[in-house]
Formats: sequence, C-alpha cells, structure tokens
Amino acid sequence: AKLLVLHGPNLNLLGSREPEIYGHATLADIDADLKARALAEGHDLESFQSNAEHAMVDRVQAARDDDTDFILINPAGFTHTSVALRDALAAVAIPFIEVHLSNPHAREPFRRTSYFSDLAVGVVCGFGPLSYSLALAGAIRRLQSDR
Ligand code: DQA
Repeated sequence: AKLLVLHGPNLNLLGSREPEIYGHATLADIDADLKARALAEGHDLESFQSNAEHAMVDRVQAARDDDTDFILINPAGFTHTSVALRDALAAVAIPFIEVHLSNPHAREPFRRTSYFSDLAVGVVCGFGPLSYSLALAGAIRRLQSDR
C-alpha cells in the first residue's frame, strides 16, 4: 500500500526546537525510520513537510490522484487552527491517523482543541518520535485487516 506522512509547520526544526518537549531526533531521522519500517512490511511511504497551510492543503488534494491509501499527519500548529486542512482531509476521504510528539492535553489549554481528531481513525500523542512509529504500526494493521 501507499502511505503518506505529512508534517506541519516548524517540524523542519526538530532536533533543535524545544528539545525538552520534542526530543533530539531530526525530521530526517524520523522520516528515514518510518520509510524503513514501511518498506520492511512491503509498503511504500513518502514524507512531506511544509510551513505553509496552502502547501499542506495542496499535498492532501494531490493524495487523491496519486493513489495514497493512508495518511499519517502531524498538523503541528495547524492542529488548533486549520479548518482548511481539515476540510481537505474530509474532501479526499483518505483514512488518517493524527500524530503528535508531545501530549497536547498536558500543555496550554489552547492545544486541547483539534480540528482533526473527530475525523481521524485514531490519535497517537505524547511518545516523542515513537508516536510516529506507533501510528505507522496502527496504519499497517488497519490496511492489512481492512477494518
Ligand atoms: C505538536 C503539538 C502542537 O500543539 C504544536 O503546535 C506543534 C507540535 C506535537 O507534535 O507535539 O507544533 O503537533
């Protein structure tokens, strides 16, 4: 199957950005690990990061035409603001898992609201880079059992 990993704004700074919250792994580390794990199970995985809301919306729309079967998305700051990115995911109707490195529920109150969680197959948060690996495991299980 074909998996797409989407990273929102400021995640390009992982490794140096507030490491006490987000850890020391870089985005390249995380993407390489996910790609290797997916390949080992016979799946294709592509990653995309942008700081721009329109670029994220465009990439989600493109996923409808490139046969993406499943999306892992860390909307980052857009989690709490972006009706447009939510609408794009609803429009393409590709199943997705919402991922966060930190646990937004244990932070500032404004992080408790997500425009994505109610549409998501599931949400994984609070485990640092492992959140992505756990989400990938869930996605692969879902793709295999088709439920
Ligand atoms: C984040 C949590 C968001 O609240 C924050 O804006 C981010 C990263 C996370 O992965 O923990 O940029 O999505």
